[in-house]
Amino acid sequence: MPYEFKAPIIDFVIYPGQSKVFTIEVTNNQNGTASGTITAEGPIWTMLEFQFGTFTVEGGTTKTIQVKLKPEASTMPGIYTGDIVVTLGGMTHRIAATAAVELLEEALLDVQVKALKTQIHPGETLPFEVALINMGATDEVDDVILNYSVIMIEGSEVIATLASETVALQDINKFRREIELPDNAKSGRYIIEVTANYWHTRKYALSSASFEVTTIPAPLLALKKVFTWWGTWLILFFLAPGAYFGTRYLSKFMKRKEEKQRYSLPLSWDELPKEGAPSVVKVGKVAGTDKPAWFDLDDLTTHAIVAGATGSGKTVSAMVIAEEVLKKELSIIVFDPTAQWTGFLAPNKDEKMMKNYEAFGLSKEDVQSFKGLIFEIRDPEDITRIDFKNWIRPGELTVFTLNKLTTGQFDQTVRNIIARIFEQTWEEASGLKTLIVFDEVHRLLEKYGGLGGYVALEKAAREFRKWGLGIMVISQVLSDFKEAVKGNVLTEVQMHSKGTDIERVRKKYGDEFAERLLRQEVGVGFLQNPRYNRGKPWFVHFRPLIHSPHKLLEEELATYKRLGDIVWQIRDKIADMKEKGQETSDVELELKLAEDKLKTGAFRMAEIYLDGLGGRMGVTAGKLAASAEKEGEAPKKPAVKSKGGGKGGSTKAKPKKK
Ligand SMILES: Nc1ncnc2c1ncn2[C@@H]1O[C@H](COP(=O)(O)OP(=O)(O)OP(=O)(O)O)[C@@H](O)[C@H]1O
Ligand SMILES: [Mg+2]
Repeated sequence: MPYEFKAPIIDFVIYPGQSKVFTIEVTNNQNGTASGTITAEGPIWTMLEFQFGTFTVEGGTTKTIQVKLKPEASTMPGIYTGDIVVTLGGMTHRIAATAAVELLEEALLDVQVKALKTQIHPGETLPFEVALINMGATDEVDDVILNYSVIMIEGSEVIATLASETVALQDINKFRREIELPDNAKSGRYIIEVTANYWHTRKYALSSASFEVTTIPAPLLALKKVFTWWGTWLILFFLAPGAYFGTRYLSKFMKRKEEKQRYSLPLSWDELPKEGAPSVVKVGKVAGTDKPAWFDLDDLTTHAIVAGATGSGKTVSAMVIAEEVLKKELSIIVFDPTAQWTGFLAPNKDEKMMKNYEAFGLSKEDVQSFKGLIFEIRDPEDITRIDFKNWIRPGELTVFTLNKLTTGQFDQTVRNIIARIFEQTWEEASGLKTLIVFDEVHRLLEKYGGLGGYVALEKAAREFRKWGLGIMVISQVLSDFKEAVKGNVLTEVQMHSKGTDIERVRKKYGDEFAERLLRQEVGVGFLQNPRYNRGKPWFVHFRPLIHSPHKLLEEELATYKRLGDIVWQIRDKIADMKEKGQETSDVELELKLAEDKLKTGAFRMAEIYLDGLGGRMGVTAGKLAASAEKEGEAPKKPAVKSKGGGKGGSTKAKPKKK
């Protein structure tokens, strides 16, 4: 071999803005000097830099060429391929190169500094503590560049600095540093300021703590002042006993006040969601205060997870948000393994819940039900027949009850739902259009007997946003989901909890948050979204519901489902008719009238319409469903059956357009 080329396997995973360096070796086994070139071809070429483009290699030697792979910060994620082409003495060698540029997850860092002395003399060193907290979706924050300076408050003069250092952290990194003050430092108030540059120097965090510099020894100064003042003597003899009891009382009072405050700390009022925008609604009060807690419904497009122990108020909190969604004339689709969400169709009559009305500025007049339809899913396959676009109706909710399904079927149903939504074509939207609720999703987790159907939720969380579809999942545990859905679910609602979730909270936000969650009462939980309160959670007391918190009565439910079944079949029929080119506008209008009656609970009227319409269209299976239920038989998916008998391929006969 006159010439040899040696290169590593060039197949890297890299983030925009990041760089990787590797080397290529070229050996000249000839006697004379040979000259060569190195270039890149293919889409990868823009991100490759060579130490030199042309070179010479003396006979019998090897040359090492450094190559840097560096996608620009603005490079779109994707796979970039190409060849590195090296020539030497007329011989050409191609090296395949691949770079998978991945989406850079945005890191979020909080920095906190604490001065460990509050008074100090010139020439002494100030000890201080720095805490770095990873608040973002990334597992680690690398390359955090820290700078420290002491600044006099008056005049902002920097009087001391430390050399900058670079650190990395996973959850929390806490350490101590010391900084020496110059001998000639003037007395006055100063701050120690820590700045952190991170995320490839694109982001910035800052914290400062104040302390005082005095020129005479502090104790001496104080003593002198005290004993040269006549009042001291007066205090010693007359006021001291009074002061003793007074301060005892005061300190108790302060402690209580502090406890109350801790209840809602740390809180940057300015950085919580604020009222004003049409998408902002009131969901309760900031816990421990009388101030309203606002929530931006548009944040639901980046999805929400509501977690907490059983009975902590998860479903109710999610329902409060859902009530507000409906009041804003947006639509909701609920997948409900408990049938509790059917209560939306009835006004609240629960006295216990009403007891809290006054505290939240509500009265009995505010009680209301919402418009909606209920369908029962009895088989995961049912999902493939649903045209979800039909159920996007302003101000209305559609509940698909899943309580007849086994855990395995529930799992499959969730997968089918997500697949079905992806199958349909959606228009892009900027704000929230429809909220999709999945209650009791912990049942999808393997440790609850699930088959891991929650993984499908991850894809949904990533893609649904652009269509204005927000997902709200409700789960007894959060940690396991967080892993799967990572940075794609931005709002967390954490109600009272125990176990692993508390440990997660402790690690992420500190002891205070964890302790507080442990003793949280029903209906109180924290909200967290990196957009607000500097990424820290804030506690909210959710308001009571205005619709019924309970599942509808079995009897009502049976009627809803029976009539819902007829509606569903008529819809299928209409789809078939359309496919055959038949005129459907009359039946559609009649169906709409019937649905309107059903939605408002006017069963008798709905029944009259539907029986008439169903009869004419040859739909009788709804009645079959009713009789099956009456006889207490296991339901046999009558809707599917009635269709299956006639024509097998009807699943695909869904209307493609409206
Ligand atoms: N904000 C609230 N105001 C008043 N009462 C509430 C509130 N939240 C919850 N409750 C009460 O607590 C009960 C349990 O709440 P909820 O059904 O939401 O719990 P959950 O966490 O979903 O429980 P599960 O794990 O059983 O689903 C409610 O029926 C209601 O009585
Ligand atoms: Mg619940």
